[in-house]
Amino acid sequence: MTEWWRDAVIYQIYPRSFQDDNGDGIGDLRGITRRLDHVAALGVDAIWLSPIFTSPMKDMGYDVSDYTDIDPLFGTLADFDAMVARAHDLGLKVIIDQVISHTSDKHPWFEESRQSRSNPKADWYVWADPNPDGTPPTNWPSVFGGPAWEWEPRRRQYYLHNFLIQQPDLNFHHRPVQDALLDTMRFWLDRGVDGFRLDTVNYYFHDDKLRDNPPNPDADGPETYGYQQHIHSKNRPENIGFLKRLRALTDEYDARMMVGEVGDGGDTAIRIMAEYTEGSDRLHMCYSFEMLGPAFTARHFRHVIEGVQKGAPDGHSCWSFSNHDVPRHVTRWGDHALNRDDLAKQAAAMLLSFPGSVCLYQGEELGQTETELVYAELTDPPALRFWPEVKGRDGCRTPMVWDADAPNAGFSSAKPWLPVKEPQAARAVATQEAGNDSVLSGYRATLAHRKATPALRWGATRFLDLPEPLLAFRRDHDGQTVTCIFNLSKTPAVVQAAGCTLIGPGHASLSGDVLNLPANGFAWLDGAPDLTV
Ligand code: NOJ
Ligand code: CA
Repeated sequence: MTEWWRDAVIYQIYPRSFQDDNGDGIGDLRGITRRLDHVAALGVDAIWLSPIFTSPMKDMGYDVSDYTDIDPLFGTLADFDAMVARAHDLGLKVIIDQVISHTSDKHPWFEESRQSRSNPKADWYVWADPNPDGTPPTNWPSVFGGPAWEWEPRRRQYYLHNFLIQQPDLNFHHRPVQDALLDTMRFWLDRGVDGFRLDTVNYYFHDDKLRDNPPNPDADGPETYGYQQHIHSKNRPENIGFLKRLRALTDEYDARMMVGEVGDGGDTAIRIMAEYTEGSDRLHMCYSFEMLGPAFTARHFRHVIEGVQKGAPDGHSCWSFSNHDVPRHVTRWGDHALNRDDLAKQAAAMLLSFPGSVCLYQGEELGQTETELVYAELTDPPALRFWPEVKGRDGCRTPMVWDADAPNAGFSSAKPWLPVKEPQAARAVATQEAGNDSVLSGYRATLAHRKATPALRWGATRFLDLPEPLLAFRRDHDGQTVTCIFNLSKTPAVVQAAGCTLIGPGHASLSGDVLNLPANGFAWLDGAPDLTV
């Protein structure tokens, strides 16, 4: 099927932390290849690899200095080909991370561009003169703190960096930049990758009139980034034209897909997700951070899904609860649960019942929790800069745990780049393989149930009006209806459900017409029974 991605479950691998093969304490491609059986045995459809390209690693690979080679830390192009071949043998598609909004400051394009105002790459980045008093050209802030502009004395100009100073933004208004980036993506398509995750897809363009962003009246939180409405530094309408060029490129190949990361929040993120996926000539799918934050209410999940569906009735989304940028959801939502395993299993059931595709983040199939780190263990730039107010992203990036009895839980024979701590090691794969009731077996059962239930994969979605903390919706496909219900709290709930039959591996019980949902309980019901409380 060419649209394999529409209901795909994509397993995100964070290469630095999956499996170290050569004993330097950092995960690598050979390590991934060795562990792909675990991924395939879950019953997922694809893997997404966070960046593996040549990089000074200032932002752990999201600062690329060569788009068409592998960083030696991770291996070689031959290792990559071997990994892709093994994944394909196991029936897994391979999605790689394209970080094209910015490069590393060590990319040869930037090294050349920064030399003068007249060199062949002079317009490849976003350069601007200072204001008459020497201050930066606009008020735009960097996501990682401080202004988004850095001074370059050789040109006597500022350059734009939406993220780190070492991540200069490419100038998408300059056509040769677009062409060069499309060429680098063609390189990987020709090499056999099945798709791309597009980093910060809504940051590609800036306002070429360099207008200031207006203030955000709802500003809160410790970061200056939240103080503005980012209408000129990103989210530009010009971006649609480039998304169409990207789609034209992937459409030249068979069954490839792109999922764009929309870096924004609230209704803006929902609007952009819809705008970027509407019709069939833009992105295949988008995801945003709407389900990666603290909100854990029925109202919130319903608002996000309905918002995207209204904005792009034909568009497709990809949902996730955890990734390499946010605290792991079992910890983040821990206050809504009595028991972390129950929360982990409920989250899996919910995520895998939502319409669209899904990204699982390595370790979430173990119910993995956020690792608590001390300052000396940190590597993430925003945390190093703003600790302790900003905790950073290291706590969700600690190594995958395979075997609690092996050194570093089987991740590496050397000291890992981030520590493996006892609470995380206790959730190792080998330990959970041994137990029937583990989170890992819950994930496998839920994934198998989804695969066997067409309504959960492709069904139209209609939410039911039940009071908090109950989230309920129906999925309909080709004469099959499944009703999904979740108790998003630590208090048991009772629902009147005449004539209902439980299906799949739920966490609920029926007595007569009464459906009992324990703390973090969930159920899939056959058909469309009336539900009342
Ligand atoms: C989003 C990525 O997920 C994050 O890890 C990275 O720091 C920024 N984009 C900048 O590339
Ligand atoms: Ca290694």
